[in-house]
Amino acid sequence: MNSFREGEWVLITTQKGKTWLIRLQKGDTFSCHLGSIRHSDIMERKEGDFWETSSGTKLFFFRPAMTDFLFHIKRRTQIMYPKDIGAILCYGDIRPGMTILESGVGSGALTLFLLAFLGKDGQVVSVEKRPEFAELAKNNVRKVFGDDPPSWQLVIADIESPPFSVTFDRVILDLPEPWKAVESVSTLLKNGGILISLSPQVAQLQLIVKALRKRGFRCFQIFEILKRDWFIDEQRTRPVDRMISHTGFLLFARKTADSSQSSDENSGS
Ligand SMILES: C[S@@+](CC[C@H](N)C(=O)[O-])C[C@H]1O[C@@H](n2cnc3c(N)ncnc32)[C@H](O)[C@@H]1O
Repeated sequence: MNSFREGEWVLITTQKGKTWLIRLQKGDTFSCHLGSIRHSDIMERKEGDFWETSSGTKLFFFRPAMTDFLFHIKRRTQIMYPKDIGAILCYGDIRPGMTILESGVGSGALTLFLLAFLGKDGQVVSVEKRPEFAELAKNNVRKVFGDDPPSWQLVIADIESPPFSVTFDRVILDLPEPWKAVESVSTLLKNGGILISLSPQVAQLQLIVKALRKRGFRCFQIFEILKRDWFIDEQRTRPVDRMISHTGFLLFARKTADSSQSSDENSGS
């Protein structure tokens, strides 16, 4: 792997897991309570290299993973967590080359992963009704990708009345009132395509399921993901005391050519 370059983002971590995300600029210095190192000295290093401070603490240098960016981007909305994004990619059967419609965009956390996962061949259209959140998401995408990726289109609009009529392989909703978007987005989803929704509240889930069944959606999968971290060191091997115990309920349903009311069956796996 090549040495770090000017302009590149670097994740600096201590052995205890404290992290910093910095952008390398010649002439700048990284300083923390453990000491200081010039960016030009970091540029002489490669990924996985370390620097030992005068107190003997090692700082390690890495190229940030997408999850590192996620917890360092500016957020002004609730964001999607990696545990839910991972399930969306897997159960939503999202693959490079697909066309994806997502709404709302919020801080752009899901958008970052969709763009990274789809690569150059796919297309992500992100619809957000509040211009200030669209701007925030655009800045976060630029921070991670350096520019606006050609595979991304950001549209400021209400998803209940979208200003386009092309169809998509997948539709992902992260909205406070997702049931209100079912009518508009179901015409934008290809037959066989998967609609995905994340809702924190049971009432939201009930209303979107009802709206989707009315439009003939089938193959429902509804679940939540609980992620519990563990401590493992010389003193303890046990779950951590606190966890993010609830983010939302995930829903996956497929559009068919039969738009008559569907039954109440769920499939799980
Ligand atoms: C929870 S945030 C989305 C977070 C985003 N998925 C992320 O990972 O950062 C919900 C967003 O939906 C937007 N929104 C709400 N109703 C909308 C609508 N009808 N059309 C478009 N966007 C909408 C809100 O403005 C807000 O930015």
